[in-house]
Amino acid sequence: MPYAAITGWGFAVPDRVVTNADLERMVETSDEWIVSRTGIKERRIVSQDDSTTSLAALAAIRAVEQAGLQPTDIELIVVATCTADDFLVSQAALVQAAIGSKAAAFDVGSACAGFVTALDVATQFIRSGSYKRVLVVGADTLSRYIDFTDRSTCVLFGDGAGAIVLEATNEERGLLASVMGADGSGSEHLFVPGAARFAPESADLFPDARPHVQMNGQAVYKFAVNVMNEASIEAIEKAEMKLDDIDMLIPHQANIRIIEAAAKRLNLPMDRVWVNLDRYGNTTAATIPIAISEAAAAGKLNEGDNVVVVAFGAGLAWAAGVLRWGVAGTRNAAQ
Ligand SMILES: CC(C)(COP(=O)(O)OP(=O)(O)OC[C@H]1O[C@@H](n2cnc3c(N)ncnc32)[C@H](O)[C@@H]1OP(=O)(O)O)[C@@H](O)C(=O)NCCC(=O)NCCS
Repeated sequence: MPYAAITGWGFAVPDRVVTNADLERMVETSDEWIVSRTGIKERRIVSQDDSTTSLAALAAIRAVEQAGLQPTDIELIVVATCTADDFLVSQAALVQAAIGSKAAAFDVGSACAGFVTALDVATQFIRSGSYKRVLVVGADTLSRYIDFTDRSTCVLFGDGAGAIVLEATNEERGLLASVMGADGSGSEHLFVPGAARFAPESADLFPDARPHVQMNGQAVYKFAVNVMNEASIEAIEKAEMKLDDIDMLIPHQANIRIIEAAAKRLNLPMDRVWVNLDRYGNTTAATIPIAISEAAAAGKLNEGDNVVVVAFGAGLAWAAGVLRWGVAGTRNAAQ
């Protein structure tokens, strides 16, 4: 049974930087409060010219180039998003057209847990022998659903996209074990009320009625700390590894305190945890592929390293996995 190695990676974020000082001018908050409670210093927010498609396509092109492939080499595109640009058309189909690919394409919707879930789904397609080259994208522009007068949510999120290319290999590479779960009874802790009933034309008439994210921060925080720990440990056990076998943690970037708790549980010093939420905030499904891309570009991921990826979010939902970094032997199996 083939494995699914990560052979390419890339990310894209909007140019517009919104700092904590900018938010201080919009809501009653302070840089000190935001940094001490979350670790976030600034985030990127889309302008009129950006979209989920434009960010996802740029990240995808970069990942395909990094893999040394052409978009026409990709057989399947899976996009994790909760902010697709169209209700009917999948975000993956929009990315397919934007990058000039002919691949099969569909979306995975699991909010912040979406990318790890999509990585798992895509890996299964390679392991079953159905496809040999799959593009997995995590992309979101949640700022379009944020109320920038609500200080409890507007300081947390940013926009962005990240992508990876998976290729079939006979070597033990890529996602080796995974766990996922959901608890829909907690859905009201993080959701967008009224979104399904919303008529876009009413935005002009009733701007305040525009659907926006509502969150019970403390409930999500408690859930996140528990589930990050439990899901990571479960994935490590499923991979038949010990804590000592783990070289790196690439966690969902929501809150530095949640990340530090996960690192402590895995016995990892913070220099073996990739953190970028100070620069991007929580980019929903994009946090992990952006972090993978940055860590790889910084030379922090070495051939054979065992990496825990773990995410949680609206659903409530979670997903974790242990992946082995590197491309050894990949091209032989993918030919
Ligand atoms: C949102 C979060 C940072 C809030 O931190 P907290 O320590 O739980 O803070 P609380 O909600 O208890 O609020 C403490 C006080 O700060 C206030 N506050 C909330 N947001 C604020 C802001 N941006 N600036 C200043 N004060 C703020 C609250 O109104 C509250 O005031 P009060 O005590 O007068 O009522 C934290 O709960 C969290 O990170 N939760 C997880 C959220 C998450 O990860 N969401 C995404 C999931 S994918």
